[in-house]
Amino acid sequence: MEPLKGLILSGGRGTRLRPITYTSAKQLVPVANKPVLFYGIEAMAAAGIEEIGIIIAPETGEEIKQVTGDGSEFGVRISYILQDEPAGLAHAVLTAEPFLGTSPFVMYLGDNLLQGGMTDLVDAFRTNEPDALILLTPVPDPENYGVAEVDADGSVKRLVEKPPEPKTDLALCGVYMFTAGIHDAARAIEPSGRGELEITDAIQFLVDGGKRVEPHIVRGWWKDTGRLDDMLEANRLVLDTIEPVVGGEMVDSTTHGRVIIEAGARLERSTVRGPAIIGAGARLSDCYIGPYTAVGPGCVIENAEVEHSILLEGSSVRQLDGRMESSLLGRNVAIGRSKGQPRAFRFMVGDNSEIGIL
Ligand code: DAU
Repeated sequence: MEPLKGLILSGGRGTRLRPITYTSAKQLVPVANKPVLFYGIEAMAAAGIEEIGIIIAPETGEEIKQVTGDGSEFGVRISYILQDEPAGLAHAVLTAEPFLGTSPFVMYLGDNLLQGGMTDLVDAFRTNEPDALILLTPVPDPENYGVAEVDADGSVKRLVEKPPEPKTDLALCGVYMFTAGIHDAARAIEPSGRGELEITDAIQFLVDGGKRVEPHIVRGWWKDTGRLDDMLEANRLVLDTIEPVVGGEMVDSTTHGRVIIEAGARLERSTVRGPAIIGAGARLSDCYIGPYTAVGPGCVIENAEVEHSILLEGSSVRQLDGRMESSLLGRNVAIGRSKGQPRAFRFMVGDNSEIGIL
């Protein structure tokens, strides 16, 4: 088999993570202080893929390029492929055809996380040489995904994109392996009800044409980080696996369990109960950081309790008279209350924000 190429889809609009995605790509939202997208690139590099194309959108592409670079940091070569509009996953494949040529390839959705990487899958694809290999996992809400029906003998029978009444609970995960035949399949299909060229329909076209589509059930966990709760859960799952390192300055402060304090962070009179990560240059004083929290670089937390949350770079939380939990703060967000004032709330919040006073 020709060497496999990698295709990562980092275009799209990210509507379900607004307002964060008004100013930044959803694939760059950090999980355990590392952009989601990087996990996919690292998994490809670990599976021996050297040549990766990343699909980008006009609005967020420049930022993705800047943060991700030419791939040398990951030991791969990255090319960027501009998709003019988010016209669907199969449309993204067609847009990448000049880059992919006749090579077989792994396609990875840039907002997905797959525990355990893809080395086993790549090996199975190389050994069995099917026309396509798809990943499936049982989920409680299959209506939000592509859904597969598989025969008793294990072969794929039908794939439907986000069916209102799913026949099974087997969701298509965002990691696929294809041979070059997928390009003709993507050209043969029509846009779906939501106006997109669906990769699900292109794979169904392969099935209908008698091609071999091999299903694999995911071992371990897989997450689509498209929504806030999924993002927090992905953060939780990744933080559960970190190795503790205290690289920052600790003044009258303690850590418990799996905690990373990055170099240049400074904690005073604070407690961090892991799993948690505190980014470089963060300043924490008189606070409690509870499990499953990722505090980005340069954040400031004073006199507050924060738990099960993600704070992006440069955000601050001050003098909270209660615990902030299950929250996602964008970059440079400031949450505060001045000491000694009568209690009142003052907000300056963008469109489509969500604030819960619990
Ligand atoms: O997460 C798994 C699901 O991903 C599958 O179960 C579905 O079958 C599949 O259609 C897809 O559904 P989503 O609705 O979640 O896809 P989303 O629009 O979130 O796009 C996935 C990634 O691809 C995301 O990083 C954005 C990028 N993308 C999306 C579109 C529509 C592009 O690069 N170009 C596009 O045109």
